[in-house]
Amino acid sequence: MAVILGIESSCDETSASICINGEIKSNIIATQAIHAKYGGVVPELASRAHQQNIIPTVDQALQQAKITKNDVDAVAFTRGPGLLGSLLVGTSFAKSFALARNIPLIDINHMQAHILAHFIDDPKPNFPFLCLTVSGGHTQIVLVKDYFDMELIGQTLDDAAGEAFDKTAKILNLPYPGGPLIDKNAKLGNPNAFKLPEPQIPDLNFSFSGLKTAILYMVQGELKKNPNFLEENMNDICASVQERIVSILLNKLKKAAKQTGVKDVAIAGGVSANSGLRESLLAMGEKYKWRVFIPKFEYCTDNAAMIAIAGYHKYLKGEFVGQDVAPLARIPF
Ligand code: KG4
Ligand code: ZN
Repeated sequence: MAVILGIESSCDETSASICINGEIKSNIIATQAIHAKYGGVVPELASRAHQQNIIPTVDQALQQAKITKNDVDAVAFTRGPGLLGSLLVGTSFAKSFALARNIPLIDINHMQAHILAHFIDDPKPNFPFLCLTVSGGHTQIVLVKDYFDMELIGQTLDDAAGEAFDKTAKILNLPYPGGPLIDKNAKLGNPNAFKLPEPQIPDLNFSFSGLKTAILYMVQGELKKNPNFLEENMNDICASVQERIVSILLNKLKKAAKQTGVKDVAIAGGVSANSGLRESLLAMGEKYKWRVFIPKFEYCTDNAAMIAIAGYHKYLKGEFVGQDVAPLARIPF
């Protein structure tokens, strides 16, 4: 019997999850609404909200799993990458919990956990598989050889895909986080209405800053001609932007699959909730005869279930850390 408590606090979601013998029994997520009015995550406010939310969130996760804190065999926590003040809350909580109960402590890399979310439900990918990990802070193509043996084979040279969505949303006067809103509007728009550039970046790397600038100039130019440009064209702009971001991502994923010969292909991270990306990946998978893996919505954006499942696999290997462990804002992959 292995009961793992997972704790996630890397950005603006406080989350706790219970995993029993590899099965997720609860996954409680406290979202911090406070950041919306600032147009982005305010680190100081995020840390304070984590501090307020962490104990009630853990209590709820235990309750929903119908266990008590005395049943927990090990605590897994996000060590990084993320906002240091936010990570400190989850790390300190996990350390205190492990110390008080005299149970093992397991450190988890947040980006690896996004990928390992694919081991929560069936069907599970076979090793080696490719994973396009797209979040607010990262855009990576990873060759996953084993649970904790992952090779970074491509990444963004500037903005992340989630940032491209969120910064575009800002240009369009949409509230933060803009990704889900662009997705919603895009469903009603014409993806070919506006032509946006595809950057020519070598290898398996990405760049999104040029696209953001192109969108800004396009919008500024059109607004000079028609002050109602945004209101009148919102759905078409969102559909065109989404289409371009998705094509940039999938063209590189296609290249990676060709280069490696790997046919199990997955997506992970907040942007994998995007309906355009999900649909286009499924279509591409059919065309190239890939087995495609797309996480359930609740496991795309930040959640502790992915930390708990990653923790379970480290627990089986007996990979624990001591009480001197500290969070890291950046962790080499
Ligand atoms: O993985 P995540 O929850 O947090 C980080 O680790 O960054 O990802 C958050 C990012 C944000 O940029 C958000 O706008 C984006 O994921 N996102 C989406 C969608 N849902 C979340 N982007 C596009 N379409 C969506 N449906
Ligand atoms: Zn994340």
